[in-house]
Amino acid sequence: MKEIHLDVVRVTEAAAIAASAWIGSGDKKAADKAATDAMRDRLNSMDFSGNVVIGEGIKDASAGLFHGEHVGKSRNQASKVYDLAMDPIEGTRPTVNSGPEALSVLAVADKGTLLSTQEFYMNKLAYGPQIASKCQLSITDPMSQTIDLVSKATGKEKTKIVVCVLDRPRHEKLIGNLRKMGVRIKLIQDCDVSGAIATCLSASGIDLLCGIGGAPEGIITACAIKCLRGGFQTQIVLKNGSIAPKVYFLEDMVQGDCVFAATGITHGSLLRGVRYTSEGPPLWMRGRRPRPCEAYFTVC
Ligand code: FBP
Repeated sequence: MKEIHLDVVRVTEAAAIAASAWIGSGDKKAADKAATDAMRDRLNSMDFSGNVVIGEGIKDASAGLFHGEHVGKSRNQASKVYDLAMDPIEGTRPTVNSGPEALSVLAVADKGTLLSTQEFYMNKLAYGPQIASKCQLSITDPMSQTIDLVSKATGKEKTKIVVCVLDRPRHEKLIGNLRKMGVRIKLIQDCDVSGAIATCLSASGIDLLCGIGGAPEGIITACAIKCLRGGFQTQIVLKNGSIAPKVYFLEDMVQGDCVFAATGITHGSLLRGVRYTSEGPPLWMRGRRPRPCEAYFTVC
């Protein structure tokens, strides 16, 4: 895995820069195509062989990088093959509406180690390393029990616990329950990958992410959270809207080592977005400052 570490950041960087040309444009399709083409071009310039396990196109009518596509310079030769999970734009709506938190994300793992799912949605529960090391949460437990355990693990009163939830009508009941318990809710409009990663970063103040979000985003999230040593559990949401009983833990979604990279497209709490300045390339491009809009995590 070490051999491709830094290259993966260049892939999300290329997609984010391409997407940034469409910030505020209102044109989701064009933004998606630009980022997808840039990501594919960059992957195809790398001396490796990758198999897209989680790609674009399931939920949105997208420009490619579909499940089963092969990328990389050595894609037709017998060399080591990696599983890839990507979203050239995680947050297409905020990108084209100049909203917050849009990222370009890519996770790389050994061949055959990423869970492949063609479903639209997953029920998710994400939490940081402090909670993961101190208690055993279960996505099937009643929320009141989960909040009690989180309160014990973090030493926070319930009224200080912050739960991140996607602002969707399907979460009305969940939000109502959480409000009754007195916990704080951070409602997000999009981008639950960022919301889940935030649970692993103590400065974010977010303790838990729960609720239903995109299934492809769930596998990408699993890679990021594994790298950050947090906890993440999911369940598939069936076509009729019901939640399948089987629980997927981190090890079911990403079985071995993995690398996760993200570049900010629009500004967010995790990363700064791509910026255009009148003074030419920013200082980090001239090697004088660390890059401000990239995140890179790995477990090897
Ligand atoms: P995109 O990558 O398609 O822009 O997804 C953004 C997102 O907000 C994800 O972060 C989230 O998992 C999913 O959409 C939620 O789906 P929906 O908007 O259908 O509730």
